[in-house]
Amino acid sequence: MRQGVLNCAFAAISVLAGYANADVDPIVIKGSKFFYQSNNTQFFIRGIAYQADPSRSDNSTSTNTSYVDPLADPDACSRDIPYLKELRTNVVRVYAVDPSQNHDSCMNQLADAGIYVISDLSDPTQAIDRDAPEWTVDLLSRYTSVIDALHGYTNMLGFFAGNEVSNAANNTAASAYVKAAVRDSKAYIKSSNYRSIGVGYATNDDPAIRTEIADYFNCGDQTDAIDFWGYNIYSWCGDSSYEQSGFEDRTIEFSNYSVPAFFSEYGCNLVQPRTFTQTDVIYGPNMSQVWSGGIVYMYYEEVNNYGLVDVSGQSVTTLPDFTYLSSRMQSATPTGVLKDSYSPTNSPQACPTLDSDWQAEASPLPPTPDSDTCQCEFESLSCVPKSSLSATQMSNLFGTVCGLSESACSGIQHNATTGKYGAYSMCNSTVQLAVALDTYYKQQSSEASACNFGGMAMIQNAGGKCSGSVAASSGPSGSASASKSSNAGSTLAVHHAFKINAAGTFGRT
Ligand SMILES: *[C@@H]1O[C@H](CO)[C@@H](O)[C@H](O)[C@H]1NC(C)=O
Ligand SMILES: *[C@@H]1O[C@H](CO)[C@@H](O)[C@H](O)[C@H]1NC(C)=O
Ligand SMILES: *[C@@H]1O[C@H](CO)[C@@H](O)[C@H](O)[C@H]1NC(C)=O
Ligand SMILES: *[C@@H]1O[C@H](CO)[C@@H](O)[C@H](O)[C@H]1NC(C)=O
Ligand SMILES: *[C@@H]1O[C@H](CO)[C@@H](O)[C@H](O)[C@H]1NC(C)=O
Ligand SMILES: *[C@@H]1O[C@H](CO)[C@@H](O)[C@H](O)[C@H]1NC(C)=O
Ligand SMILES: *[C@@H]1O[C@H](CO)[C@@H](O)[C@H](O)[C@H]1NC(C)=O
Ligand SMILES: *[C@@H]1O[C@H](CO)[C@@H](O)[C@H](O)[C@H]1NC(C)=O
Repeated sequence: MRQGVLNCAFAAISVLAGYANADVDPIVIKGSKFFYQSNNTQFFIRGIAYQADPSRSDNSTSTNTSYVDPLADPDACSRDIPYLKELRTNVVRVYAVDPSQNHDSCMNQLADAGIYVISDLSDPTQAIDRDAPEWTVDLLSRYTSVIDALHGYTNMLGFFAGNEVSNAANNTAASAYVKAAVRDSKAYIKSSNYRSIGVGYATNDDPAIRTEIADYFNCGDQTDAIDFWGYNIYSWCGDSSYEQSGFEDRTIEFSNYSVPAFFSEYGCNLVQPRTFTQTDVIYGPNMSQVWSGGIVYMYYEEVNNYGLVDVSGQSVTTLPDFTYLSSRMQSATPTGVLKDSYSPTNSPQACPTLDSDWQAEASPLPPTPDSDTCQCEFESLSCVPKSSLSATQMSNLFGTVCGLSESACSGIQHNATTGKYGAYSMCNSTVQLAVALDTYYKQQSSEASACNFGGMAMIQNAGGKCSGSVAASSGPSGSASASKSSNAGSTLAVHHAFKINAAGTFGRT
């Protein structure tokens, strides 16, 4: 039934009609386990992280945010799938895809090989920044464009709304924005009438926050919560053991988790070659009761030394780690439960309370980005930034205007610890800056001199009012009312709207 070329419109129709492009049986979630849709068999992930990082071909990793979409190169997929099959791979994890490219060939080749795909929604430049988190119209647009591009393939297993964003006690506030991203990605899939593909999060393994973060993403209203939990875990190195590696403790911790949990990256390389003794345990009886398998980091050998194969042009050379892993995978045959006879009993965790290790309120979450609200507001403002400003100038201007008047910036404030989010905190930087400048200008009785800022701001002819939309989109704090009256006492988030995003990079250094 599979055809080589499938355009978007046809994909949408075929899904609605109930026959998707590929032959694989979709994976569904019941309780804390994955199952094949059409029979009773539990699905365990035997995954490989599959994305080259070309920026690592030299050692200048820190500034290069280019990426190569691993699902858009049919020749590379044909080249690599036989090796993935030798590893009994049934899932590849990809970190950044380009929604403007065509993914039919790779997705169908993977489907033919029985391989499902789990994809991150961000990319290296469009991701939630752990040190200056926001959830904006631009990010939502990036996320939904990836969902649009991939939802139609029946071998899509799930999406990650973030990867290791909060990774230490001092940046846990960022998790509020990632959870908002989970909520809005799920809502988008639902409102688009797409197949019910899960949205999860991939965490690092920081002892200071590991319990809180797992609880946070799982707690509360389940329409906002993750559908599955990925754990990037590197604590089993060399010939460790279930107990020594911490895998036993992690298994106990997750034994009552209410959604599927799996290792979204594993394979410590401190001892080489990697013989993957942990693989036997992950799929053995101790862990397969709780975990749905794992994803080995990673396919390509790069300067970080995590590769299973060396790729040069169209030629692939397997490395010792490949041989060890392949041999382990042949005996990875966990016994699952039957879908029909499985009655989930685990319930969601309680939300973590705020303390020195956890800085994100579970509710309210940051508001849902709405571009119409932002556009309408922008057009209604009298004092706006000049369009020629550089990123640095804009950043400085935020500092200046919010320094002059804290209340001028209440409409764009966003603080996950207080749970206060201005109604325009989800707009792009230009609109946010305009909201602050215009509020300040009006606070100064619309004196022309209050809309100058060293020639960086200007007066525009304000368009119509957008009454209604503001109230509708206003964050639960209600801090940005249409009148923009001052909201004394609010502490503003420091703006670093233009930082290159550390959280967006993928893979290990
Ligand atoms: C259930 O379906 C999957 C996918 O088609 C297949 O691999 C598996 O063997 C099936 N299970 C049984 C018990 O037939
Ligand atoms: C980033 O890496 C890509 C791939 O190696 C390379 O083509 C590009 O020139 C690099 N860009 C910068 C700014 O170094
Ligand atoms: C990158 O740096 C590491 C250590 O600093 C070095 O071992 C490696 O050879 C370098 N790789 C390249 C491609 O220059
Ligand atoms: C957390 O601490 C690191 C280094 O200790 C620092 O670079 C980073 O900016 C801090 N993040 C936040 C959000 O304070
Ligand atoms: C399974 O767990 C028990 C302790 O709960 C441990 O003694 C045993 O070694 C574990 N099995 C494996 C294969 O790690
Ligand atoms: C899961 O177990 C942990 C540790 O025993 C406990 O703190 C937590 O409340 C339990 N969660 C649920 C939802 O039962
Ligand atoms: C920001 O949003 C406004 C309002 O929708 C839009 O007019 C403007 O082009 C956007 N700016 C950028 C840089 O995306
Ligand atoms: C959020 O508000 C709290 C309490 O006022 C403050 O301590 C914290 O610095 C604020 N966070 C940010 C990112 O501004």
